Amino acid sequence: MNARVRLEKQQNRSGDPQRADQGFGRIAEEPPPHFAGTDLDGIYAFFARNGYVVIAGCLSSGELAHLNGFYDRTQRERPDAWGLGPRKPHHRHQGLIFSQPLLDYPELDPYTRHPGSYPAVCRLLGGEDRARFSEFNFRETPKNAGIGSQNFHHDATRPDRFTRVPYMPVDWLCAVHYLTDVEPGTPAFCVVPMSNRFETLRDAYESLGDAYREAPLFAPAGTCILYDTATWHCRYDGDGRRPRRTWHQYYARGGWLPSSLPHTDRYVRPPTPCLTDWNLFPERLALHTDPAVRLFFSHWNTAQCEWVASGFSDAVRRSMPRGYM
Ligand SMILES: [Fe+2]
Repeated sequence: MNARVRLEKQQNRSGDPQRADQGFGRIAEEPPPHFAGTDLDGIYAFFARNGYVVIAGCLSSGELAHLNGFYDRTQRERPDAWGLGPRKPHHRHQGLIFSQPLLDYPELDPYTRHPGSYPAVCRLLGGEDRARFSEFNFRETPKNAGIGSQNFHHDATRPDRFTRVPYMPVDWLCAVHYLTDVEPGTPAFCVVPMSNRFETLRDAYESLGDAYREAPLFAPAGTCILYDTATWHCRYDGDGRRPRRTWHQYYARGGWLPSSLPHTDRYVRPPTPCLTDWNLFPERLALHTDPAVRLFFSHWNTAQCEWVASGFSDAVRRSMPRGYM
């Protein structure tokens, strides 16, 4: 669906509050700036204002070849893990997802703190020792997948985001890396800039006024988009002819933040809670010999605690959602 048709479709809907989450069709006229991964001040300033940022050229051609080869190999060897086998996929209508590939593939470990985006991740989460791992998955929107529009939504949020001062650092960050080119007609990651402190998309639309825009992010393979999980976003419709592959990694903020008020030692923000109750970290990362790596993989949910207590038992892993082997 092209932008004009989408605009008309959405304008028809915009008077209906029941349909507001599907967008208002006010598409950004200009693409946002694409920052170099080394421009940490520029990245921080843009992100702090808009709730997302685009970083150019994060992945090399060799890494893109490796990761696309990983998709081809694992879709052939482990179709169930991608939702391609007889087992029902855990994410219906959202294309293919390989959830938790880190469990069995140490070849992916270097990507978890990738030099193209990790310095920016640390800066946005409050410092080098503040970034924590949450989740890592691969997704594919195949050609002619027949998947429907994805509603605008936000991911996990914390209630204090409406009142805390300062707002930064964020609670969770998600990094979406494009592994294939995303051009008009390709399903694009789409954000509503400055929408991370609104309860509903309609609130954002009415409060932002003329500044409200829906911004589909077109960019070549290797680009990384970092967004605050509270920012409203969706997968913007493609024309069905162009497939898309994306690597998604979520990060949380670690450590306690002290109050900025004078004459107090009161701590005001605890480490961000776990993003999910099912995501597991493999033994080689959770119990790594390097304390910095252990700290990065230290946000264990209760499923992880039980798996660790079992000695990382295969049977316990298999009993958990998405623990397939
Ligand atoms: Fe999302």
